[in-house]
Amino acid sequence: MVFQKKVKLISSEKLTSDLFRLRFFCPEVAKGAKPGNFAHIRISQNTTPLLRRAFSIFDVDLKKKTFDILFKVVGLGTKILSEKKKGESLDVLGPLGNSFLISSKEQNLVLVAGGMGIAPLMFLASYLVKSEKIKREKISFLYGEKTKNNFVCLGQLKKLGVKTVLTTEDGTKGFKGKVTDLFLKRRIKLGIGKNCFIYSCGPQKMMKKMSELSKKYDLFCQLSLETHMPCGLGACFGCVVKYIKNDTTPLAGQATYKRICVDGPIFDAREVELD
Ligand SMILES: Cc1cc2nc3c(=O)[nH]c(=O)nc-3n(C[C@H](O)[C@H](O)[C@H](O)COP(=O)(O)OP(=O)(O)OC[C@H]3O[C@@H](n4cnc5c(N)ncnc54)[C@H](O)[C@@H]3O)c2cc1C
Ligand code: FES
Repeated sequence: MVFQKKVKLISSEKLTSDLFRLRFFCPEVAKGAKPGNFAHIRISQNTTPLLRRAFSIFDVDLKKKTFDILFKVVGLGTKILSEKKKGESLDVLGPLGNSFLISSKEQNLVLVAGGMGIAPLMFLASYLVKSEKIKREKISFLYGEKTKNNFVCLGQLKKLGVKTVLTTEDGTKGFKGKVTDLFLKRRIKLGIGKNCFIYSCGPQKMMKKMSELSKKYDLFCQLSLETHMPCGLGACFGCVVKYIKNDTTPLAGQATYKRICVDGPIFDAREVELD
């Protein structure tokens, strides 16, 4: 169920020069959110900016009835959001979108995050670790950043006890290269194959690469896609992605368009065509 209500900001934490974590008191979203869902937040009371901004649910606390978002300042909306103070209220719509498919079988689970893609995947990692059906030694977390100072959540990942492999584009920490290079290089060692569940989120170029690799090796990989989202409710078609059904029905192979806000943001990497 989707809620729209004014919710109180419980805390705002600056993690790096441009990265913030906000915590909201909202029993409905805390209870209803699943990994992959997002919140659509009205940043301002006036018309600047007019449209809501989308943020993945990064964490929930069922006891305290809170949910968190993690975001990077990239423009006016996120700049204003970073300046919000504890006690202020914001209009929140959520939880929105579909969620990651959770395997009930004993499979290798590989989470592949690039930059801000860490936000939905941290929520997923916590969820998987809490699940009694999944053994944490089956979970691997590949996390890439441009440089070592950009990493966040390393303490949380350690606490979760999942196998974590880091990579930086400048080689200042972990493997040197993009997280997709690491994914390819460690593919065999991590047992990545047809029976594996892969979950990925990151910049558009990375999502395109993950989609290409999933098609090439026929891997089950779910991508969390991001784009500009004017309405967030399926009404404006401002958020579409080219989609080609990958099954044996008569519609297989035919291109159509899906709305990321209501049909996604989670898609099978083999079924989307990204620019
Ligand atoms: C489902 C979903 C989940 C998201 N989760 C997160 C999250 O957890 N953390 C986070 O930091 N961001 C997340 N985003 C992206 C976030 O919504 C944008 O960064 C935000 O809307 C930018 O608003 P702004 O007013 O600061 O920037 P604007 O002034 O609107 O834009 C500034 C610059 O950023 C670019 N930009 C803006 N929005 C996007 C976007 N969605 N994708 C690519 N480029 C964009 C613009 O083209 C422009 O160059 C998510 C987006 C979606 C759709
Ligand atoms: S944002 Fe309007 S249809 Fe998706």
